[in-house]
Order: sequence, then C-alpha cells, then structure tokens
Amino acid sequence: MITIKSDEEIQRMYEAGKLLASCHKELRNILDIGISTLEINSFVEDYLKRHGATPEQKGYKGYPYAICASINEEVCHGFPRKQPLQNGDIVTIDMVVNLDGALADSAWTYPIGTISASAKKLIEVTKKSLYKGIEQAHVGHTLGDIGHAIQSYVESQGFSVVREFTGHGIGPTIHEEPEVFHFGSPSDGLPLKEGMVITIEPMVNEGEWYTYVDSNGWTAKTFDSSLSAQYEHTIAITKDGPFILTAQ
Ligand code: MF3
Ligand code: CO
Repeated sequence: MITIKSDEEIQRMYEAGKLLASCHKELRNILDIGISTLEINSFVEDYLKRHGATPEQKGYKGYPYAICASINEEVCHGFPRKQPLQNGDIVTIDMVVNLDGALADSAWTYPIGTISASAKKLIEVTKKSLYKGIEQAHVGHTLGDIGHAIQSYVESQGFSVVREFTGHGIGPTIHEEPEVFHFGSPSDGLPLKEGMVITIEPMVNEGEWYTYVDSNGWTAKTFDSSLSAQYEHTIAITKDGPFILTAQ
C-alpha cells in the first residue's frame, strides 16, 4: 500500500531530515585517511543520541550497525570495519534517522585523501543523477520519468546504474511501497501524488551494473570489482514540487 502523508507528518520527517543532514555535514570534517568506518559508526550513533534520535538501520531485519559504509567496489550495505580508510578510497555512508518516530534516509559518497580523476567523475555524475531524478518528482509525473532521467544521464557519461537495489517509499518503517527504480521509460509506472514520500538513491558503477551479495549476507559489490558511488535523499511530493527533506 502506498501511504499519503499529512503536512504534519512531512514536517516531522523534515525535522529528522535536518538532523540527518547536519550529521552528514559533521562527517565531512572527520572522514579522512586513517579513520575507520567503525569509528564513523560510533560517531554517528553518539551524534544521534546526543540529539535525541536513534539510528533506524540498527536491528532492521537484523542489520547489525547504525550506518552502512560501502568502500570502493562495495555498492551498498557495507559493514563498518576496523581497518582505517586509505588515501584514494571512496566511501558511501548511508543512514536512517528516527526522531520521535519520524524517519529520514540519506547517503553520500565521500572521497578520502586524493582520489583518481575517474573516481571524482563517478562521484560527480552520481550526485548530479540524483538531482536529475529529483527534478522529475512532481505531481503528475511518473516513477518512470524519475528512472529515465537518472539512467539516461548516467549512461551518457559512460557509467551504469545498478538495477538490483531501488529507492522506496518511507514512512513509519524504512521500506514502504512503491519501489523507485533508477532506470525506466518516460511516462511509465506509477503517477506521483501529493503527499507521497520516497527516497531516490542511485547507485552508479564505473563498469557494468551487475552486483552480487558478499558472504556476510548483506554487502552488495560490483561484479567486475569496479568502483561504485551513491547519493540518496528523502523527498516529499508536494503541490509546489519536490521537497528535499534531507537537504544540506
Ligand atoms: N538506507 C538504506 C536504503 O537506502 C536502507 C538500508 S537497510 C539496512 O534503502 F538494514 F541495510 F540498513
Ligand atoms: Co539509505
């Protein structure tokens, strides 16, 4: 079932989203060569606690950590680890904030030290593809319009869009209907209605789009070991257009 949120519910999700955005901003200052993603995990958990919120991913379907931290060829759901980040790594930090029962979900990919020109381009294209998708998130447009905008831009830049993982509706629980594909055809699929809240979260690979899940049962990696990046925002569909609840 696709739920329609009231203005008040959207406002509460926006409060969660603002906190999430401020946490990502803090991460920009501390993510560097030598810090581990397990330390980042603790930082996020403490930060949210200090601000009266909790990390919704922890314990969700048995997921063991507050954040997902996906390094280089890891596409999503990377487990935080104790090994320090190295010069040239790229790392995607994904988190879901629960503030008084309202959720928001956002992921960013960060460069560590000096990264290759190709990694830099991958990050830029991924971020831009998210905004191409968001531009389509208007009442009367369809999910296919969002997917098409993302896919056509990413492929024009020589990269590929992951198919196995999608954005999603979000409400009292992390994953609600509908599934938000990051590929598709214009005018296809569900028409967007005022009051829907969805995530748009393209995962973009340097090489082929195929992925597989690691032996830990969670972490998806690129099949060809190429780099992967991701940007994600939580978006409310309003009569005035897309409202990014997790904007910085
Ligand atoms: N934040 C993820 C998403 O964007 C949800 C991950 S669920 C977890 O859909 F359990 F893996 F954390
Ligand atoms: Co997320």
